[in-house]
Amino acid sequence: MTLINQKMIRAFIEGRYWRHPVRALRIFAAETARKNRGYKRAWEAVGKDAGWTYTMMNGSPDEATLQRTGREMAARLVDALALQSSHRVLELGCGVARIGRELAPQVGEWYGADISSSILKIAQRRTAHLRNVHFRELKRADLPFEDNSFDRVYSHLVLFHMDKEDLYLYLKEFARVLKPGGLLYFDTWNLLHPEGWERFIWELEHHRHKQVKPAHRNQFCTPDEVRLYVEKAGVTPLHVLDPSFWVQTIAGKPAAGVSLDELQALPRNLDSLIPHGRWYY
Ligand SMILES: C[S@@+](CC[C@H](N)C(=O)[O-])C[C@H]1O[C@@H](n2cnc3c(N)ncnc32)[C@H](O)[C@@H]1O
Repeated sequence: MTLINQKMIRAFIEGRYWRHPVRALRIFAAETARKNRGYKRAWEAVGKDAGWTYTMMNGSPDEATLQRTGREMAARLVDALALQSSHRVLELGCGVARIGRELAPQVGEWYGADISSSILKIAQRRTAHLRNVHFRELKRADLPFEDNSFDRVYSHLVLFHMDKEDLYLYLKEFARVLKPGGLLYFDTWNLLHPEGWERFIWELEHHRHKQVKPAHRNQFCTPDEVRLYVEKAGVTPLHVLDPSFWVQTIAGKPAAGVSLDELQALPRNLDSLIPHGRWYY
């Protein structure tokens, strides 16, 4: 198989990559070079180009959209995780702090952890005015935080960019760093939803002729599969929302003296968490 095939040339023309030749080279480097295995390599390449980084967060084309969608997601999380102004909060895969920049003023301390130092540099610039924001660069799926140290943990648009083994390892880490009685939110692609399946086929076609599948490609779960990983990781699934192309999970860490009913009653306004339409723009 040749390194550059007809499909790639077509993608170059149809995907309008010719407008951004340097970006096209970076995408090529992130997705095809044999040595570019691993999440870090792929996401470091993304962070070298602010325009590409913005689209790789949630499709936002510019700073204004990034801030608007960040504000909207932050509001959804305030309700879904019953966030309080005293809470110590962790986001895994914080990216450019699209959500963190808007959420940090509403909580006690906000921590953003990410695999990409180049993306974290952009996040630092975007949050330089905030005093309760902290960043950690990660090397692999273990979190450099103490046991039982966060009231809330969330991860949006991240865990489907990795192998299931790493998704599960991160869930175990979330269970470890959450305080007893703490809450967790994360999402994955929903293979059982027609649009989730459509995206699975798109992803399959997009990568099937590559010598090496990019480490950061999208991967897919069923709601039952997610529930299994969550339970095995040591947290209790409270709400597994599956009416959309995402499986959106809120889980709680059991605590002595706190019943499952009490934990389950904490999340509010869950309908607003479910995307109506194709994406959160
Ligand atoms: C699609 S972006 C989402 C960013 C942010 N959560 C948001 O909604 O704007 C995915 C982020 O996850 C990070 N990421 C990907 N794989 C990771 C891994 N294995 N460990 C930690 N972070 C990872 C990437 O560097 C990137 O910043």
